[in-house]
This record gives sequence, structure tokens and C-alpha cells, in this order.
Amino acid sequence: MEHFDVVVLGGGPGGYVAAIKAAQLGMKVLICEQEHLGGVCLNKGCIPTKTLLKSIKIYKDIKNAAKFGIEGVNTEVLKLNLALVQQRKRQVVEQLVRGVHGLLKGNKVHIVFGSGEIINNNQIKVNGSDYKVKNIIIATGSVPILPPIPGIGGPNVITSNEGLDLEEFPESMAIIGGGVIGVEFAQIFAEAGVRVSIFEMQPYILPTVDEEVGQILRNELEKKGVKIFVNAKVKEILANEIIAEINGNESKFPVQQILVAVGRKPSLTGVNPDVLGLHTERGAIVTDKTMATNLSHIYAIGDVNGKSMLAHTASMEGIIAVENIAGHNSKMDYKVIPQCIYSFPEVSSVGMSEAEARDKYGDILVKKFHFRGNGKALIEDQQIGFVKVVAESKYKEILGVHIVGPQATELIAEAVVAMNLEATAEELAQCIHPHPTVSESMQEAFHSVVDKAIHSLDDLK
Ligand code: NAI
Repeated sequence: MEHFDVVVLGGGPGGYVAAIKAAQLGMKVLICEQEHLGGVCLNKGCIPTKTLLKSIKIYKDIKNAAKFGIEGVNTEVLKLNLALVQQRKRQVVEQLVRGVHGLLKGNKVHIVFGSGEIINNNQIKVNGSDYKVKNIIIATGSVPILPPIPGIGGPNVITSNEGLDLEEFPESMAIIGGGVIGVEFAQIFAEAGVRVSIFEMQPYILPTVDEEVGQILRNELEKKGVKIFVNAKVKEILANEIIAEINGNESKFPVQQILVAVGRKPSLTGVNPDVLGLHTERGAIVTDKTMATNLSHIYAIGDVNGKSMLAHTASMEGIIAVENIAGHNSKMDYKVIPQCIYSFPEVSSVGMSEAEARDKYGDILVKKFHFRGNGKALIEDQQIGFVKVVAESKYKEILGVHIVGPQATELIAEAVVAMNLEATAEELAQCIHPHPTVSESMQEAFHSVVDKAIHSLDDLK
């Protein structure tokens, strides 16, 4: 039986990062993956969606070409060929999967393809072979939730998995769930001319996003023709329609395709909590801040522990788990985790919302800088949105940043660094930002927290 210091179950952004880090720290590592290296993120999530969105963005820009002084674009014949878009997506994904393979091999990580099963805390089985292990890292990810709606198993119902592989656009699509996946798909399909409707059971779509930010995104989606139904309960799915109760009234909505995006649940393939005595809570493996489970030498990282369900959290949890296996004393901190939505305009946030900060600190400062006062945003024709900073009022330490607007998903990294370093608005306002860039809006928002923004009259009111 072959022996390993660490076995990682699952090759997603949690698992493969953990495997590489463990190898870098001198351990003998085996990674076991049942499908594709890179996991959901690389194969059926983050990377494919953003590749599709890139094609949509170019299509949108070309349609808008006249606004930029470009003549001769016949928008009547301009067409988004989904089969060709998918071809490029596959190339990007395949290149990245090969890259992950190369990184693992280069770090001398052993790779085995097959569905692994934990036998006990020092043995796993893959494809009929047993491996002796000192430590196990469970990184088996998550799968889409299918709510118990009659007709949910019908051929017209898909999840994000199948949604990402469509070769043709449907005429109409109903999206059940107005969360991150629902909104990103609504964006892709609406821009391509599909009649999109969202059915969200809460009073708002994106219920976890800052309210003002969410409102801007809702307006933009509605401008694109997306119909948003809130307080909506889908009662039944039929061949060409869905029946939904909205604010207590039941109606029928004709629709060709239905995409379900009501959240994801941990996937415990190869892990039998009852047999192993592994603690779980609402289907997720319970872990502490070192990423350890209740069983010695077994760690759980990424979506399977249900804590944050984001690729970048999973990767950091992987590094923390491995450092603890190596005898360091590393703890996972969930306070400063950025969240991004790749919509038009983009959305991002980190830290506390206004309400959370007010609850914790009472007296807080909340300041906004609108992109309409930023030169680069105007050049880009993306002046909708703002940077909103939440700070405590004594030292003006940054507690949260919420952005909707151009390159929001890139800009948020500055706030992440600032918050990790416990920076104050004053220190950040003193940092010279390059001109002309949209990042100047960050500096302006920090100026506004300190006293007044330069390129805005809002602080004079
Ligand atoms: P989500 O939790 O973000 O949103 C699900 C939405 O569905 C919620 O608004 C909820 O109120 C609603 N809902 C639940 N049951 C419903 C029902 N029966 N009828 C109507 N509405 C219902 O989940 P989502 O969008 O499926 O995403 C899954 C995970 O993937 C999330 O953890 C998300 O953070 C992650 N993800 C992250 C992305 C990113 O970082 N850009 C992109 C896509 C997914």
C-alpha cells in the first residue's frame, strides 16, 4: 500500500491549492479527482461564466460602436453565435485545466483520477486501490440545490451546469432564484436577446447585497428587459409554462427554458459522516478556524464546509489546513472576504454592510463617491454606480466597502488590502492613485470619509 503525508479529496480551487502548498512544504501528496482538475470553478462556474460574459461584453460594445464614432456596423446582422462562443470558452477552460495539471506535476503531487472514498482517518480507497495517509483534506465541493417543485425534473429545466453548455439561445428563460448565479445568467441571456424573467422568493433579488447597490443592478437589469418577480413562489413547472404565486396571486407564465439557481449544497461524495463519526451541520462538515474537523488528521475546506462557498475562500482555507498539518499555528479569518458579481455594471463588496456596522459600532460614517465624477469612467462610458465606504467614526478605520460600477471586481482588492492592514481612511486618502483610472474613485471615497471628496459637491451639502 502506498503511503502519503497528505491526501486531498477533490481537485477544485480548494483542493489543488492545498495539494501544491503541501508539496511546497515538503510533504508527499496525493490528490484524487473524480472528474476534472479545477473543479466547478474552473469547469462549470467562475471561469466559463466569465468567458461567456466577455463575449457578451464585446457584442454589447460593438452594438454601441456608433456612440464611439465608429460607422459601418450593421446591428441588424450582428449575431452572437453561441456555438462559437462556447468553443472559445472550452479553449480557455482547457488551457487552465492543463495549467493546473502542470502545476501539480511540477510540484511532484501524485494525481489519481477516480472517485475516492475515506475508509478511516488514515486510509482512502480510489479505483479499488488503498492508500495509507497521515492526513486527509476533504475538498469535495458542492452541487446545485433542486427545490421540491413539481416538474423540476422536466427536460426544460436546467441548472448552471447545463446553462453553461447551451449551444443555442432559447427564446425565453425563467430563472428561479435571484442570487448571484441567477443575476449573472440573467445578464448573459438578456444581452443576447433572450426574454428573461427572474422569480425570487425574497422581497429583493440579491438579498445579501448592499441595498443601494442592489437597486442599481435591478434598474439596469430591468432596462435590459429582465422581468423581476419578487415574493414569488414557483408552484409548478409544466412543459411550456410555470405557475407561480406572486404576492399571494397565482399566475401562469409561458416560458421555453427554466434555470434553477436557488443555492448550492455541500457534496459529500466518498465521505460517509455516520460511518466515520464526522460532525456535520445542515449537510456541511463542521470545521474550526484551523480547518480541522472533529476527527484527528481530517480537515475540510471549501464549499463542503458551507462557510463561504467562494473559490478564493476555498484556496485560503486549503493553505491554512496545510500550514496546520505542517505544525504552524494558522487560523482562517472570515472577516475580510471579497464578494463579486460579474454583471453590467459589476458589483463587489468586502466587510460589513452599513446595517451591520451600525449595529456593532453605533456611530459610523458612510460616504459615497459616484463614478460620474471620474474621468476614466466617462471615457469608458460606464458612469453608473459608486464606491461606498463604511468607516467607524473615531479613527475612521475602514469597516466595509461596497462598489457598483466599472471594474468593481478589480477595485475591491484595494479595500481588501486596506482592511487586512487595518488602514484608516486618512492613510488611504494619502495614497497617490494613478490618473486617469477608475481607482481614483476609491481615493475620492476615502477623502470623503476624512472630510470632502475633491471631484464632487456632495460633501458640501
Ligand atoms: P445564492 O444563495 O446566491 O442565491 C439563491 C437565491 O435563490 C436567493 O436569493 C434565495 O432567496 C433564492 N431562492 C431560494 N429558494 C428559492 C425558491 N424556491 N424560489 C425562488 N427563489 C429561491 O445561490 P446561487 O445564486 O445559486 O449561487 C450558489 C453559490 O455560488 C453561492 O454561494 C454564490 O456565492 C456562489 N457563486 C459565486 C459567484 C461569484 O462569486 N461571482 C458566481 C456564482 C455563484
